[in-house]
Formats: sequence, C-alpha cells, structure tokens
Amino acid sequence: MRRSVGLAVGAYLPKTVVSNDELSKRVDTTDEWIRQRTGITQRHVAAEGEMTSDLAVKAAEQALQAAGLRGADIDAIVLATATPDHTFPATATRVQHRIGMKGGFALDVQAVCSGFIYALAIADNFIKAGQAKRALVIGAETFSRILDWNDRNTCVLFGDGAGALILEAHEGQGTSQDRGVLCTHLFSDGAHYEQLYVDGGPSSTQTTGSVRMNGKEVFRHAVVNLAAAVDAAIASTGITAEEIDWLVPHQANRRIMDGMAHRLKLPPEKVVYTIERHANTSAASVPLALAEAVTDGRIQRGQLVLMEAMGGGFTWGSALLRW
Ligand code: ACO
Repeated sequence: MRRSVGLAVGAYLPKTVVSNDELSKRVDTTDEWIRQRTGITQRHVAAEGEMTSDLAVKAAEQALQAAGLRGADIDAIVLATATPDHTFPATATRVQHRIGMKGGFALDVQAVCSGFIYALAIADNFIKAGQAKRALVIGAETFSRILDWNDRNTCVLFGDGAGALILEAHEGQGTSQDRGVLCTHLFSDGAHYEQLYVDGGPSSTQTTGSVRMNGKEVFRHAVVNLAAAVDAAIASTGITAEEIDWLVPHQANRRIMDGMAHRLKLPPEKVVYTIERHANTSAASVPLALAEAVTDGRIQRGQLVLMEAMGGGFTWGSALLRW
C-alpha cells in the first residue's frame, strides 16, 4: 500500500521581530494582556518587499537541503496560503520556478489557518493515487500585510513565516506502524464565514482588505471542532490517545492548545509550542512547529505525530503522521 513518508522539513522566519511592548505603543494593549490571553510575546514580520513566495522558497530550500534533494527531484508543490503574492497566478508556481523544478505541477490551497492540514491531505492523496512521487508541502504567510494595525482585536495575534515538508511515495504494509501519513481528516462549515474573514478581495471590494474576527466565537468553535478532528484521526486508525508521541497543533492561542493536550492526557512536554515566539502564522504555524521539533531532535523517526488546525471558513482538520 502506497504511503507518503516525511523525508525532511524546513522553516523560515523573517528577521524583524516585533514585541508586545512595541505593539502597545501603537494600539491600546499591554504585554500582560496579550501574554495572558494568548501566550504570545513576539512575532516576526516580513520586511518591505519581502513576499510570501520569498519566505516559502527559503523554507523549501532548507527542506530540500535536509533531504539531499534538488528542486528537479520534486514533482508536486502544494502551497497553503491566504496571503498570496498576487491574486493569480498561484504563489506555488513562483516557488516551483525559483527552486528549479522543471516538471510536475504546483498549486495554492486556501483554507487560512487550516491550510497546511488541507495541503498535506491533498499532497498525500496525489501520492497515494500515483500522480506524484515527491511532494513539497508548504505553509507560507505574510499576514502582516492583511492586518489592520489599529485594531487591537486582531493585530496582536498574527505573525509571518513559512514551513515546508517533503513527502515521498513508499510502499508500506498498511498498518499504523508504517512510517508516513496515516490519515487526514478535513472539515468546513461556511455558515460561519463572517466570524473570521478579510473584508476585501478581487470580486467584492477590489481591495486587499484586513482581517476581521469575532474572537470569542472562533475560540468557542475551535475547542469543539478540533476535538472532533482529533477524535476522527484516532477512530479511523485504531490507535489510542496514549500512543501519540507529539501533538503539533495550530498555534492560535495557548489556551486552546492546552485544552486539547488536557483532553488527550498529553503532558505539556509532548506538545510543540511556538506561539510565544511566532504568534499565529496561519497556514505556516503547523509546519513551523513541526520543523522546529524535528530539527532540534524532539521528534524522532518512528514517533507518532498528531497535527490539527482550525481557521476561517470555518475550516478545520487533523493529520496523523508517523515520522
Ligand atoms: N489588548 C487589550 N484588550 C483587548 C485586546 C488587546 N489586544 N483585544 C481585545 N481586547 C479587549 C476586548 O475589547 C474586550 O473588551 P470589552 O470587554 O471591554 O469589550 C476584552 O479585551 C475581552 O475580549 P474577549 O474577546 O473576551 O477576550 P478573549 O479572552 O476571548 O481573548 C482572543 C480574545 C485572544 C482573540 C481569543 O478569543 C482567541 O484566541 N480566539 C480564537 C482565535 C483563533 O483561534 N483564531 C484561529 C483561527 S485564525 C485564522 O483562521 C486566520
């Protein structure tokens, strides 16, 4: 049975770091409020002219180097972003060209903060269907470009960055002991479109717009939806919660992540937290956290990694990966 095995990871964060204290000079907020409500202390912000594709290319190149591969060895790019360089073409095609990938195909996926889980599911299914051998799955965002820097409800929450994962087709036994993606589960419910959206776009206002969020409602749904996504992963693979070695959650709010860890009876040492330093990087948050924990040696080959995310739409989902 064909499996998508994780070969290597990569990450990139822009150089400029903005602290909570710096933000408190811009809007009516405090370091204490932000830390207590979210767990965030700082975020990285892309330089002027630095685009989502620039971040994505750096993360992709790092992953390629770690795998000992060149761009030409990849035959699919699935790039999750809500902040593409342009309305079209897909940012993924720009990344394809810049890493020297001559064939195959490249596409963008739009599921906001759930984007990486969606991209991973799509790439995994292309591999399983025999339509790709080696896929580069990327989450890359420049959310700083779509923030209203005068809105304290949103501007304190987000940051910029990119993470990448290379998947390769391997034959496995079809058991939960195989290395690779064991399952993915995707969900959406457009009834909640207006709880978290950008008030601009080519077909509506012909402007870029800014993030608007009903934080309380998003929080409430996140807790319920993420639990359902995690339960689906566990039920479909027959594993038990005790077998999970690592939880790599979307980094939106420390309280949401702690709630999920508690539900799974996972101690904090088994959860990868980057929110304090990265804030919410939307589609980049899960691959950035994965890349950090793989690179620093916390996540070991053969270990079971549960990823989950929830974002605008609403969209939500989970993925189980035996690294
Ligand atoms: N500094 C100080 N006060 C603030 C700030 C701030 N930065 N932001 C809001 N407040 C105020 C509010 O105005 C409100 O004041 P009021 O009571 O006078 O009206 C008060 O703080 C409390 O606001 P709440 O909304 O109750 O705060 P809450 O505890 O819910 O935390 C937060 C807000 C952090 C946004 C939380 O609701 C949250 O994390 N929501 C989920 C976000 C999320 O998961 N997003 C994921 C998807 S993102 C994506 O897809 C792009």
